[in-house]
Amino acid sequence: MQIIKTTDHQQMSRYAANIISAQVIMKPTCVLGLATGATPMGIYKQLIEWYRKNDVDFSLVTSVNLDEYCDLSGDHEQSYRYYMNENFFRHINIAPENTFLPAGDAADYEKECSDYDALIQRLGGLDLQLLGIGHDGHIGFNEPADEYVPGTHRVRLLDETIEANSRFFSGVDKVPKYALTMGIRDIMQAKKIVLVASGEEKAEILHKALTGPVSPRIPASVLQLHPNVILVADEMAMQHFA
Ligand code: PGA
Repeated sequence: MQIIKTTDHQQMSRYAANIISAQVIMKPTCVLGLATGATPMGIYKQLIEWYRKNDVDFSLVTSVNLDEYCDLSGDHEQSYRYYMNENFFRHINIAPENTFLPAGDAADYEKECSDYDALIQRLGGLDLQLLGIGHDGHIGFNEPADEYVPGTHRVRLLDETIEANSRFFSGVDKVPKYALTMGIRDIMQAKKIVLVASGEEKAEILHKALTGPVSPRIPASVLQLHPNVILVADEMAMQHFA
């Protein structure tokens, strides 16, 4: 694993954005696996800035997001579709029809999940997957469990995740209890993974996930087995590393 330690969130964002824009420049038709949450916000801001300066062109890029809440339509302000449109897609020249997220409100979610896996295969897999890490070690919405689930699936969010994400909703009871998420195989088959973490609150789980035993109880620990992971994390998040 390559480790890039940065001074703060802003520098983390710039370094991670650099890796993503290098990917797009090297392979303009690349498939980017994208993530939501607070951590990647600065990365998208930076990429938008470089796009505006004509330094990077997303016109041939396809994006496939990790996950989506169930029971929220794409125009709901807390849906991940809305997040991606507002924070990234509408500011760059990616073709809207080449941006994919699981449809969290699909009536037949099992079909939606298998269609999503088929889509990833059809696209030839992910060239680069951007990942945050949850307080409980989740990646995407792969929550701690007894075993890893390989493909896209519906997951019951843990109370800890619902609590953590309630900061974006008007109340904890408004947070959806279910989500669709790419599985561990989908993520692990990405050619390159950029794992980002920022702040003290991620320090303990980041250290456990990357230095402890590989276990589905800490989903991110599986990343130790991937041959091409770049960790970009700030000093606060890395304080338990020697
Ligand atoms: P955060 O979420 O970036 O909002 O902390 C990370 C995650 O849950 O994957």
